[in-house]
Amino acid sequence: MYKKAILKSMSRTPYPLEPTASERVAVQQAVESYIQNFLTQLPALPAYVDTPEKGAGLLESPLEENPISIEHALGLLKSEVDVPGINSASGGHLGYIPGGGLYYEGLGDYLAAVTNKYAGIFYSAPGAVRMENLLLRWMASLIDFPADAAGNLTSGGSIASLIALATARDAQKITSRMIPDAVVYLTAHAHHCLDKALRIAGLGECPVRYIPMDARYRMQPEALEQAILEDKAAGLTPWLIIASAGTTDVGAVDPLSAIGQIARQHQLWYHVDAAYGGFFALAPSGKPKLEGIALADSVVMDPHKGLFIPYGSGAVLIKNRKQTAETHHYLANYMQDALSATEEASPADLSPELSKHFRGLRLWLPLKLHGVGAFRGALEEKLDLAKYAYAQLQQMAGVEVPVEPELSLVIFRFVPTTGEEANAFNQKLIKAVQQDGRVFLSSTLLDGNFMLRLAILSFRTHQETIDLALQILREKATEIEQDYRS
Ligand SMILES: Cc1ncc(COP(=O)(O)O)c(C=O)c1O
Repeated sequence: MYKKAILKSMSRTPYPLEPTASERVAVQQAVESYIQNFLTQLPALPAYVDTPEKGAGLLESPLEENPISIEHALGLLKSEVDVPGINSASGGHLGYIPGGGLYYEGLGDYLAAVTNKYAGIFYSAPGAVRMENLLLRWMASLIDFPADAAGNLTSGGSIASLIALATARDAQKITSRMIPDAVVYLTAHAHHCLDKALRIAGLGECPVRYIPMDARYRMQPEALEQAILEDKAAGLTPWLIIASAGTTDVGAVDPLSAIGQIARQHQLWYHVDAAYGGFFALAPSGKPKLEGIALADSVVMDPHKGLFIPYGSGAVLIKNRKQTAETHHYLANYMQDALSATEEASPADLSPELSKHFRGLRLWLPLKLHGVGAFRGALEEKLDLAKYAYAQLQQMAGVEVPVEPELSLVIFRFVPTTGEEANAFNQKLIKAVQQDGRVFLSSTLLDGNFMLRLAILSFRTHQETIDLALQILREKATEIEQDYRS
């Protein structure tokens, strides 16, 4: 009986999961036409759309036994997924840290998905692993890390940080009994993914010292050294310093050289979160701002930020290859065939992941087809746009711009002349800008003040985008002032 049923299922032809060549072409053409329409319309599309349904129409189309047409699927994708919320592909996305959306990346992902190379182990896909390691060696060279540094292409900065901090824990030989006395140093502006990584790595109970910042929100090295000395004198075990090369709040770069020297002197692990700022090392005027990054033991830099790659691309680099393998390498009987091929390190030995997406192709293809120079130019443009926005905002009546941008993030607020409380005014302003939707801005709190941010990192953001954002801000601020007066 059982055997017969199997045979029956095996004799079904054609196999519906394997479309014919003509079916493939028809669906592929429909998808390509959707993409081309999206890209053609993109400059005129809003950067933010707040629909009341928020994509809930998708729930009215549950998964069913029978197929739907590609036209039907693309219709759902458009109305329920692509329209509502932030249009991350838009140059008008100036909120949070914008991700990219390079077209050639999409083709790279398409190729990677269809060929489905398993890029976790060198033995399984030597070319794919070589490609990923080549990219990581290139990234290492950008920050003057040694050519034999270890690295891993991750899903983003959060997982990259987890890999780095788990490696740091083992390299510094922090065992569970030591945790209550094992001190970590960072600033209050370090990204929350680092606190999260500490917690997930079992280090949530380590004492954390929030080191004071200077007027530009950068860690004060003297205060760091003082804190380490005090903790040592109290019999504690300082073991980890986390610095930022581009904070999410204001884009500040901590003094990486001075902090690195302190880390070296006291033999602490030195981690630099360059998730946002790291790829500015490519831009001639960005590179000097990252001076001292090479002193780090581990660095995180996100291609889905500074290389304009769509979400899902982070990277971690670890100077001493042996240390990361100690944390992440495992052997299992069913993996024994893989042991013979050792020319390149396997990504699975440097990460918690075993099966993984072939992330290298989404990076390699655009870097090869555009050439590195195109990325260098775009990053230099972002730094210039931030300077431009800063100068323009400084000239705007009633606008306070507390810090000169170090990278491509400008922070500011309106100080209303109407007598209305500034925080309430700026909250109304960001809401009005978001409702308008032509550009998308986000906010943060700085010393209790509600601040607006212009995060300039999309490769589609140019001078006209900044001019439009400033014009919208002016318009909305005037409207709110008028409302308050009337
Ligand atoms: C400075 C910084 N570090 C880390 C992260 C976390 O990266 P991801 O969102 O890729 O996990 C971010 C995200 O915006 C960030 O801005």
